[in-house]
Amino acid sequence: MKNFEFHSPTKIFFGRETQKQVGEIIRGYGFKKVLLHYGKGSIKKIGLYDEVTNALNESKIDFIELGGAQPNPTLNLVKEGIGLCRKENVDIVLVVGGGSAIDSGKLIAVGAANDCDPWLFSMGKKTPKSALPIGTILTLSATGSETSASAVITNEELKLKRGYNSEFNRPLFSILNPELTFTVSPYQTACGIVDIIMHTLERYITMKGNAEVTDRIAEAVLKSTIQAGKVAMENPQDYEARATLMWAGTLSHNGLTGLGRDYYMVCHQIEHEISGMFEEVAHGAGLAVVFPAWAKYAYKYNMERFCQYAVRVWNCEMDYSNPENTAIAGIEATAKYFKEIGMPSSLSEFSITEDSFEEMAEKCTNYGERILPGLIEYGKKEIIDILNLCK
Ligand code: NZQ
Ligand code: ZN
Repeated sequence: MKNFEFHSPTKIFFGRETQKQVGEIIRGYGFKKVLLHYGKGSIKKIGLYDEVTNALNESKIDFIELGGAQPNPTLNLVKEGIGLCRKENVDIVLVVGGGSAIDSGKLIAVGAANDCDPWLFSMGKKTPKSALPIGTILTLSATGSETSASAVITNEELKLKRGYNSEFNRPLFSILNPELTFTVSPYQTACGIVDIIMHTLERYITMKGNAEVTDRIAEAVLKSTIQAGKVAMENPQDYEARATLMWAGTLSHNGLTGLGRDYYMVCHQIEHEISGMFEEVAHGAGLAVVFPAWAKYAYKYNMERFCQYAVRVWNCEMDYSNPENTAIAGIEATAKYFKEIGMPSSLSEFSITEDSFEEMAEKCTNYGERILPGLIEYGKKEIIDILNLCK
């Protein structure tokens, strides 16, 4: 097990009706002025907007609001939010929504407390020195943004999607009520399942090294997500299945499933270039296409881990005379599962052709400035090879 630091400071309020506590929670911290930030309107359709605003009013918390965060959220709205926070002396950002609204809120919170272009943080050119606190009410189990240190934003002018990590991105509190995800569409539910699996899997199958406890935690997250995913797809209102997905999503990306191992999220990096250029691609759907392609490319370099994954997570039989068969069986089981829950298996399903691969690879390598590490190094050529396997 390698040395590690672990810090997951977000206070979690988990369970039925917990969103009703939001006013008391914010009052308990002593905040006076909230920016209520949300997406394109689903929270109004499901009655959550009224519940949240009532709770804030009852607790006599003053608030202003900014809706409109789109899936694959964008920089211009972040800038609008920063302006509002400064003008109105906001002292906490409360996000109600999925990963897109939360990430938009995170960059607003950081941008409002630092006097520079927020895109510099996304590009890793500046490090934030402080941030407004952020609270979340999660409505979609997927990204883990409710506790993660990441914020992923698209610069719509550059068509460039970039995530950056900072401890300032970790919410102060997150309210997780699985009932709020009953209305998530089957497609978005499936995207979320893929994302939870991939946060865990990208930490599980990367570098060499031992971390048995971490492996077993990751396997538990993977197996319970696969199982609950099937149930939630069949019955969207199954509380236990939705609760499993919600908690698994949080654990998949708060750092726990990677402790003591080196990892690098190559599929995520490649996917961000796809959904950065093509905003109609949901992150999880992009990952469902990239993972099997990447895995077929990379398994030879880490046969042992791919076999462990196949045997422990998918109950594949170990073929000692030809381990390659086992590794491939695990990859195929994953791809089959993604397909069964309605995910795409090729970029052609989005009408994305090889014409854009060169540009994606250029962006992914920061125009030749970086090579993605892993058991092998991924430069422009390797990324284009993987994208060709996504066709
Ligand atoms: O915008 P609204 O109207 O709210 O509708 C959303 C959106 O259309 C809808 N939705 C959310 N909750 C709902 C609901 N519809 C009905 N009932 C509900 N309860 O679902 C759609 C997708 O929402 P979005 O927030 O875009 O999905 P997700 O949570 O998957 O977030 C994706 C974004 O997060 C980034 C992705 O790259 C992508 O930009 N990620 C963020 C990470 C992080 N910060 O740690 C890590 C991830 O790896 C990921 O990169
Ligand atoms: Zn993800």
